[in-house]
Amino acid sequence: MRETWVVGAASNRFGKMKESGREAATRVAMEAILQSGLAPKDIGYTFVSNAFGISEHQGHIGPLINNGLGIPGVPSATIESACSSSSAALHEAFVHVAGGFLDAALVVGVEKLSHLDTLAATSYFAVGADYPFEAKNGATFPGLYATLASAYRHAYSTKDEMFGAIALKNHANAARNPHAHFQKEISMETYLGSPMIASPLRLYDCCPFSDGAAAVVVAAKEFMTRPVTEPLVIRASARAGSVTDMQDRPDLLGLPSARLAAEKAFRQAKMSPKEIDFLEVHDCFTIAEALALEDLGFFPRGTAAQESLEGVTARDAKLPVNPSGGLKAKGHPVSATGASQVVEVFEQMNGLAKGREVPKAETALTHNVGATGGSCSVHIFSRR
Ligand SMILES: CC(C)(COP(=O)(O)OP(=O)(O)OC[C@H]1O[C@@H](n2cnc3c(N)ncnc32)[C@H](O)[C@@H]1OP(=O)(O)O)[C@@H](O)C(=O)NCCC(=O)NCCS
Repeated sequence: MRETWVVGAASNRFGKMKESGREAATRVAMEAILQSGLAPKDIGYTFVSNAFGISEHQGHIGPLINNGLGIPGVPSATIESACSSSSAALHEAFVHVAGGFLDAALVVGVEKLSHLDTLAATSYFAVGADYPFEAKNGATFPGLYATLASAYRHAYSTKDEMFGAIALKNHANAARNPHAHFQKEISMETYLGSPMIASPLRLYDCCPFSDGAAAVVVAAKEFMTRPVTEPLVIRASARAGSVTDMQDRPDLLGLPSARLAAEKAFRQAKMSPKEIDFLEVHDCFTIAEALALEDLGFFPRGTAAQESLEGVTARDAKLPVNPSGGLKAKGHPVSATGASQVVEVFEQMNGLAKGREVPKAETALTHNVGATGGSCSVHIFSRR
């Protein structure tokens, strides 16, 4: 395998986009390529994610993006893995570059949803669950994650403030992130007073519906004779799956795919959780952040929510988690989320995360879940 780097990464501001998904994707892709010091002609393949492009009456956006970049002859493919789509695309890019099939590849994730109301967006998203068992019977993602939150609260001694602490931290981080959907801090009083969405999840336990686009350029070390950025070495790129419908899982106290992907990733990188400086994890709901930290092996079962309340995961604390603001507050434009986690790692390691720097940024891990864990990607990065 060849040493493989992330050499450019760009994102727009998540929230509401005026431009179409295809326009936004092309713009951030060009930004990421220019940042890398490469030219569009150096890209050998474009891996695109756009799970809900159909809502814009547009599928097959890879060729459209490549055409906009002036490289219509370059091949492209759309990679779909629900909310983990663009980290799955990154995995494909890594495999091709590390395996010697490509010298450089482009990963783009984009979603535009703001033209849909909450009911329509919720119905679109629900197709990522197991339709006959879950969505057809009325299950939505807030409902499914509420089930996971109820199981956690039933198994362990918890209080609302533990989950509130996760929301407050992520809003505080997003307030310092120009890419974030919500750039405002919230108080515990606001959290506790917010409306119940799917008990026990309140409004501030949930990620919002966001538009957004993010792009990452991946290249072989030997192809980058004069890198112009501080490259991220991809130390591990691991994916795993699990039973999608929750009633067939052995327990609801974690996501099996996340545990499997984490084991694989740490094995590939020959590293342990102790060697990771900061993390971007998939906090589509506050319970998901607690489960992620336990699935990834950073905290023993049943303790991550308490650790969050004690401030251990704050941006300037021992284990910074979601310095970008996470899905909760940076936003969750489904197919752009995985790539945007890499943008945060890239900005932290390149001194571009002004005002929200983590104390140490030599190594980082990203964790991106599809639906309630039918799929999961874990990537580990380090500086050279
Ligand atoms: C939580 C949720 C139901 C709220 O939807 P809603 O009640 O229709 O809210 P609206 O879109 O009408 O927004 C009302 C206000 O709440 C804010 N808001 C919406 N969702 C928010 C969230 N998740 N967190 C904080 N504020 C939120 C809006 O910005 C708006 O504020 P404003 O009045 O100051 O402009 C919706 O955001 C949701 O379903 N989120 C989860 C998305 C999801 O399942 N993603 C997939 C995860 S696997």
